[in-house]
Amino acid sequence: MIVGCFVASKSVYSPAMAFRVPTRLTIEPGCCAARLGGEAALLARGAVALISDDGLAATPWPEVAHESLRQAGLTVCRLGGVEANPRATTIEQLAEKIRQNQCTAVVGLGGGSVLDATKAAAMLATNGGRCADYIGRDRYSRPPLPFLAVPTTCGTGSEVTWVSVISDEATRRKISVKGESMFPDRALVDADLLASLPPSMVAATGVDALTHALEAYTGKAANPASDALALRAVETLFRYLPRAVADIAGDSEARAAVMEASTLAGLAFGNADVGPVHCLSEALGGLFDVPHGLTNAVLLAPVLRSHGASIERQLSSLAPRILGRPAPTAARGEVLSAIEELVKEVGLPTFSALEIPPTAFEEVAAAAEANGSNPSSPRPMAAGDYLAILTAVGR
Ligand SMILES: [Fe+2]
Repeated sequence: MIVGCFVASKSVYSPAMAFRVPTRLTIEPGCCAARLGGEAALLARGAVALISDDGLAATPWPEVAHESLRQAGLTVCRLGGVEANPRATTIEQLAEKIRQNQCTAVVGLGGGSVLDATKAAAMLATNGGRCADYIGRDRYSRPPLPFLAVPTTCGTGSEVTWVSVISDEATRRKISVKGESMFPDRALVDADLLASLPPSMVAATGVDALTHALEAYTGKAANPASDALALRAVETLFRYLPRAVADIAGDSEARAAVMEASTLAGLAFGNADVGPVHCLSEALGGLFDVPHGLTNAVLLAPVLRSHGASIERQLSSLAPRILGRPAPTAARGEVLSAIEELVKEVGLPTFSALEIPPTAFEEVAAAAEANGSNPSSPRPMAAGDYLAILTAVGR
């Protein structure tokens, strides 16, 4: 079901990027326990694969999901072993197990790595081969298995996007596999699942969501629908992320707010792309296996600052939502400072904490330029521009 299609006024906006989200989306605390089994039973017969985050082992959520599926009459095949920055070989092994167990649908329960891995495994399970055979868009021929996504962090957005970002060990690069039928069929966005997330993960994934919203809003592919979603996500994260980090278990209002903002930011970037922060972040993740949320957090303000006057209009319109008052053009630096302050307030470090050797900067910059999202940058970015940012933050 296509629920939205907009013709944007910006000349860079291509009809191919028409706003769409075929995923049936539920945003409601408690919806995993209440609805997962019933939703899965509409898509599966017999066996369903439940791929959950190993980090959830000490929480009740895998059992909650399993029980909901079992009560709906489904046989549950539990799978795991997905690492951060999911590897192509891991996904290929998952697909093989899904086939061996004759699963007719897959459920991904976890953060961005698990959801991306499940999304790609659902496609590989019906198409065979290796992840690297499908780099790019719509490179497969058979429809993926039905996929239900249940996020357990407040940053991924993968529950409403068509892309899986995968670490290819052979090339030490991130590769993207995507397709119109790779959107999750269903997404259950349940803020209760955040209650057991460590504060550092709330902070890192929350700033990943903020980065999705800000890159969607300032990028070339922005459109009226993605702008509306991005603005609401930015405003909500500024208001609630510090509270969520301070007391994710006890503050149900903040928990629900950041979970909602994460999905809204996912809808925004799923239809307006990300930009240079993610280009650099994915290059660093491929080469050094550093956590995605953390790399975005340390690069967000420096990259936005480097865009200068090219994002002046967008920063001015963010000012009332971030600063609580309109900012004159000359005060756009205040918006950037507020973004820096938020990252600091939630306890995230600066670039030096990643310990990236300066000798690698040129290779990182070249990989960033080659990233598929580089053309969505608000200003043209070549490897030299990325190198300048890395050199400045790495001082
Ligand atoms: Fe991201």
